[in-house]
Amino acid sequence: MLLKIINAKNTLELGVFTGYSLLTTALALPEDGRITAIDIDKEAYEVGLEFMKKAGVDHKINFIYCDGMEVLDKLVNDNQEFDFIFADADKPNYVNFLERFLKLVKVGGIMAFDNTLWFSFVVEEEESVPEFMRESRAALIEFNKKLAFDPRVEISQISVGDGVTLCRRLV
Ligand SMILES: C[S@@+](CC[C@H](N)C(=O)[O-])C[C@H]1O[C@@H](n2cnc3c(N)ncnc32)[C@H](O)[C@@H]1O
Repeated sequence: MLLKIINAKNTLELGVFTGYSLLTTALALPEDGRITAIDIDKEAYEVGLEFMKKAGVDHKINFIYCDGMEVLDKLVNDNQEFDFIFADADKPNYVNFLERFLKLVKVGGIMAFDNTLWFSFVVEEEESVPEFMRESRAALIEFNKKLAFDPRVEISQISVGDGVTLCRRLV
């Protein structure tokens, strides 16, 4: 619905897995819409690809099998521009993704960051958080603080799942 409201045509997704969010995005885009989708797991993408084909939307997808940061730097170099960007991978790098996204999303465009409440651990004491989730917890706390004071974006913290932050590029 959001993608339709903003008339999104060219989108970027970082973190595909088997493609649940990729499929919903593809279904929301117009016939000539395009999604650049990045993941380091090709096998998982190929599981989901069958469903993209069944849904008749696979022609909208350009899957890039590579590390996210590497692709983002290339897209910035190539002066690519997107209407919407969705991040759902590698939480410790959200701060670095943001800087690239701000060069890639058009002014007025939307960036969405998933899991920004990190299973609610962002408000728990560190000792009560499983060790393997601590690095992402710390990174997301820093990321949320940074975004709250970033004059380049307007944000909306949506408490769906474990948090989705919508950011609109202002300048
Ligand atoms: C939570 S899953 C994505 C789920 C998907 N967005 C959905 O809603 O169905 C995270 C994905 O990010 C990928 N990933 C993790 N680190 C990455 C990186 N540095 N660059 C690209 N993809 C990465 C993983 O392989 C995994 O498939």
